[in-house]
This record gives sequence, C-alpha cells and structure tokens, in this order.
Amino acid sequence: MTLQEILQHRRAVRHYDREKPIETERVKECIRLATLAPTSSNMQLWEAYHIVSPEKLRVLGQACLGQDAATTAQQMVVFVVRPDLVKQRAQAALTHERANVERHSPTEKHASRIKRWEDYYGKIIPFLYARGCGLIGAFRKSMIQVAGLFRPVPRQVSEADMYTIMHKSCALAAQTFMLAMSEADYDTCPLEGFDSLRVKRILGLPRQAQINMIVSCGIRTPQGVWGDRFRIPFEETYHRVDGK
Ligand SMILES: Cc1cc2nc3c(=O)[nH]c(=O)nc-3n(C[C@H](O)[C@H](O)[C@H](O)COP(=O)(O)O)c2cc1C
Repeated sequence: MTLQEILQHRRAVRHYDREKPIETERVKECIRLATLAPTSSNMQLWEAYHIVSPEKLRVLGQACLGQDAATTAQQMVVFVVRPDLVKQRAQAALTHERANVERHSPTEKHASRIKRWEDYYGKIIPFLYARGCGLIGAFRKSMIQVAGLFRPVPRQVSEADMYTIMHKSCALAAQTFMLAMSEADYDTCPLEGFDSLRVKRILGLPRQAQINMIVSCGIRTPQGVWGDRFRIPFEETYHRVDGK
C-alpha cells in the first residue's frame, strides 16, 4: 500500500472478528516501527505494553468501560509515558550523542560539541523535567517569564506542561504504530475511554506513569467501521500564512 492507501485504510474499528487471530510477532514488529517516531529532545519517555493474554485482555476490556472496540480485540497495546525515567533516558541520549560527535564531527570540534550535549542532557533536561508537587514547575515558569522579557524562550515549562510534552511524543508513537498496523492489513482503534487507575493496576505501573492511549487490535468485521468518515471541511483546518 502507498502511504495514501494506508491512511485511507486506517479507520477506528469498533468491532473485531473473533474468529480471525492476528500474529503477535507482526504486531510486535509494528511496535518496533513505532519507535522510529520522533520524540521531544529524543527523550523517548514512552513504553508500549503489548497485551496478548486472554485473561489480561478480558480485564483490560472491562477497564476500557466495556467498549466493543476493546472487548472484541485480539490484542491491545497500551502506550504509557514514564517521567520517572528521565535520568536513564537523558544518560542514554548523552552516551549516544557523545559517540555521534566522535564519529561525525571534525576532531577540533569534539570538545565543544560534547560539552554542549553534556550541558543539554546533564543540566537543561534534568532542570526542565524536575518535579515537586508543582512547585519546581512554578519556579521554572517564573524564571522563564523573566528571561522572556529579553529574548524568545520556551514557555511551556510547568510540570503539567512537561506531561503534555511527553504525551505529545507518545501519541506520535501510537499513530506510527497504527499506520504500521494498517500497512500490515491489521485494524486498530485508539482509545482514551478507560479507567486509568485500573489500567495502571492491571499492568503494575509505577505511580508517576500515565496512560497515553490504548490501541485495540484485530481484524475488522463488516460492521466494525461506523459508516463514512467525517472530517470538517479542509478550509476550516488549513490556514495559509503568506508573507504579509
Ligand atoms: C486520543 C483518541 C482517543 C479515542 N478514544 C476513543 C474511544 O475511547 N472509543 C472509541 O470508540 N473511539 C475512540 N477514538 C476514535 C475516534 O473517535 C476516531 O478516530 C474518530 O471518530 C475518527 O474516525 P476514524 O479514526 O475512523 O477516521 C479515539 C481517538 C483518539 C485519537
């Protein structure tokens, strides 16, 4: 399929064929492709939990408010954001970027470029992602307001903003996964109709983790797609910004 065909083929499927199983390894491969999605600062603060056990699918189906899109699913993938992994991810990114500089930069630039990465992943990122009952975020925000009087600054730095940043990146991974599934001729439905507390308990996730989206998977029945697709007129979405 071309990208256009993949995009047309992907629909939110609300009912899957229980008689048509899907291959676990193929779904896993689609999750692997989802890791190619971009993430903010390449922090990759997301994880995917691939649910294949019938018992776990049953309880997750209930936690998804009993929606058919969940209870008829052959498998599910839960996309999760993990603010508690900032330190590890920043360290991994720094290790990678150091080696990148050594491989690809002229020798005389090594020290300055490595120092830049060390400042970024060793100081700026830990500062931006630091959390403490909203107070650290409030402090960050006030610092930024002052700095913003003199130059352009990133203003989305509260603790809630940092969750938004993680969720944006995670949602890109979820979408990449759904497109990969569509290409494999498998169907999906993104879900946010779920009880996040129950889902976290089912998966044994730490307190700081948040569920981004659950994507149910299977093969559609003819009634699995609810009629024609609806999109508001493109002119309402598209705004061309010209020179003046
Ligand atoms: C973040 C997100 C959450 C969604 N949650 C649900 C849900 O809980 N239940 C459901 O039936 N559909 C859910 N949907 C599917 C949308 O309703 C669907 O994508 C939309 O109606 C457009 O249809 P299409 O995907 O077939 O183009 C969700 C979609 C997104 C992006």
